[in-house]
Amino acid sequence: MSLSVREARVEDLLQMQQTNLWCLPENYNLKYYLYHILSWPQLLYVAEDHKAKVVGYVLAKMEEDDEPAHGHITSLSVLRTHRKCGLATKLMTSSHDRMQECFDAAHVALHVRRSNRAAFHLYSETLDYHIRDVEKGYYADGEDAYDMRKTFKLTKAAADIVADETTS
Ligand SMILES: CC(C)(COP(=O)(O)OP(=O)(O)OC[C@H]1O[C@@H](n2cnc3c(N)ncnc32)[C@H](O)[C@@H]1OP(=O)(O)O)[C@@H](O)C(=O)NCCC(=O)NCCS
Repeated sequence: MSLSVREARVEDLLQMQQTNLWCLPENYNLKYYLYHILSWPQLLYVAEDHKAKVVGYVLAKMEEDDEPAHGHITSLSVLRTHRKCGLATKLMTSSHDRMQECFDAAHVALHVRRSNRAAFHLYSETLDYHIRDVEKGYYADGEDAYDMRKTFKLTKAAADIVADETTS
């Protein structure tokens, strides 16, 4: 199975939206995809097969008004036929890398359903996210969300504490 992960282009958006509709109950109109790619083109990735069919995507953005600037994963999915091949891991690490290189992101955050074991494993075990909070009834059907975060670098205050500890 020949699969590749690359930066998304505007012409991929319809296929990304279709993949999202197949995989998740949280869906978005095309304007929202366009908003992401026009604002943060570096952060959207797709996985495609040998026929250039999109089989997975990550839709991500920056929260630039917050301090410190950080990334946010809006949506991630991989078609059922192409799961457990490492695609989600590759999509996520590609986007994480660009958040740091292009936007100096201090961390990245996301929400995940409490019952989503596959995604929870990916985030907590493979990608080293931790749970920051539980948001009660976050989803439209009333399910709770884990608010999860992965730290890329220490804040200045935390770095100063570490520096003090290593010199004392
Ligand atoms: C969650 C999802 C994106 C994972 O995609 P994937 O391409 O299969 O993930 P990967 O192959 O990169 O696997 C990453 C890790 O998760 C594990 N994993 C994948 N599916 C799993 C499952 N069903 N149960 C437990 N662990 C699972 C893998 O074994 C791997 O673990 P490892 O790194 O310890 O070996 C995919 O299942 C999906 O699209 N689900 C529906 C949409 C969704 O839930 N999106 C996330 C919304 S927050």
